[in-house]
Amino acid sequence: MAKNYKIAVLPGDGTGPEVIAEGMKVVHAAAEKFGFTIESDTYDWGGTRYMREGTIMPDDATDILRKYNAIYLGAIGRPDVPPGILEKGILLKLRFELDQYINLRPVKLFPGVECPLANKKPEDIDYVVVRENSGDVYTGMGGVAMKGTPHEVATQVMTYSRAQVDRCLKFAFETARKRHTKENPWRGLSAEDIAAGKTAQLTLCGKSNVLTYVFNMWERALHEMAPQYPEVKINYCHVDAICMWMVKNPEWFDVIVTTNMFGDIITDLAAMTQGGMGIAAGGNLNPEGVSMFEPIGGSAPKYTGMNVINPLAAVLSGAMMLDYLGESEAARAIEKSVAYITANKLKSLSAGKMGYSTSEVGDLVVENL
Ligand code: IPM
Ligand code: MN
Repeated sequence: MAKNYKIAVLPGDGTGPEVIAEGMKVVHAAAEKFGFTIESDTYDWGGTRYMREGTIMPDDATDILRKYNAIYLGAIGRPDVPPGILEKGILLKLRFELDQYINLRPVKLFPGVECPLANKKPEDIDYVVVRENSGDVYTGMGGVAMKGTPHEVATQVMTYSRAQVDRCLKFAFETARKRHTKENPWRGLSAEDIAAGKTAQLTLCGKSNVLTYVFNMWERALHEMAPQYPEVKINYCHVDAICMWMVKNPEWFDVIVTTNMFGDIITDLAAMTQGGMGIAAGGNLNPEGVSMFEPIGGSAPKYTGMNVINPLAAVLSGAMMLDYLGESEAARAIEKSVAYITANKLKSLSAGKMGYSTSEVGDLVVENL
C-alpha cells in the first residue's frame, strides 16, 4: 500500500499563504510521481487570526499538531502587531513545546543564481548550518528590575545544559556523516585528511574567548563525542570570524553547528550568499517527534496578494519535509527541478523580478519534476 503522510499546514500571514500554496502544489505533484499520498489540514493560526479573534492559536495547538507526521509553515508576522507577540505566541511556542531542538538550514547556491560574493560558484557554497533551537537567550531566563528608573537593569541569559549540547552535537555529527561517503568525500578535505579516513567536516561556531563557560562546555562535549565519528574532521571558529569566512571562503564549510542566537544571525548572512530569502529553506526538527518546515524569511507583507513573491524557499522547505519523512528520492527530484529552473528560467530570485509570477514558478517546478 502506498504510504500516506498527514501534514498540518499553517500558511500564516502576509505572503505565507501564497508560497505555501505553491509548496503544496509541488509536494502533491512529487507524491503522485513517487507513489505516496499527502493528506493535509490547514489551520489559520497567526497574526491575521490574532487581529480578528484576539488569539493566535488555540490552547491545545500542540496537542493537535502532535497527531501529524509534519508541520508545514508559511510565515508569521504583521506590521500592525508589536514585535514579540506573534514570534513568541506561535513560532517560538511551537518550537519549544514540540521540543524541535534542531534548526536545520542548508546553504546552497543553485545554478544560475546571482551570488553577491565575487567569483563564487555553486560548488563553493554548499553547506548546512545546524542551529541549536531550544536553548540560549531564547529560553527566556532573565528579567527586569527598577523598570522606568535610571537604574533599570535587564538581563536575558544565555543558558545551555549539557544534555541540550549533546543532543545537538549528536545530530550535527550524524548530519556530517550522512552528507558524504568514502567514495565521494567532502571536497574541502586535504589529502592527509582523506588518508586519515575523513569524509566530512564539522565546524563548531562559538565565542570561546568571551563566553568561556558556555563554549568550554560545547568544546568539551565536541571533543568527547568526536571519537564516535572517526570520519568527521572537527574544527572550531569564533562567530565573528566565521562571518568573514562565510563571505570570503564559503567553500571552507561542510557542516556548521552553533548556538541558537549565533545560528539565527549567521543563517541570515548565509541566506544572502545563496541568493536571498527567496530561496532559503529550513526545518525545525525534533528527531524523536514532530518537525516543522518553514522558509527562513518572513511574511513580506508589502507583497501580499500580488502573486509576485518567490515561492522557492517554501518549495525547498517542502522538499526538506519529504526528505525528513523518508521520501528522499522525491526530495531530490524537487531540488533538481528547482536547480533546472534557476539555471534556465528565472531572471532573478527577487519578488516581482523573476520573470514569472508566484504561481507560475510553482508550475515550472511541477513541470520539470
Ligand atoms: C528565525 C526568526 C525567529 C528566530 C524569530 C522570528 C523569533 O528570526 O526563524 O530565524 O529568531 O528564530
Ligand atoms: Mn532569524
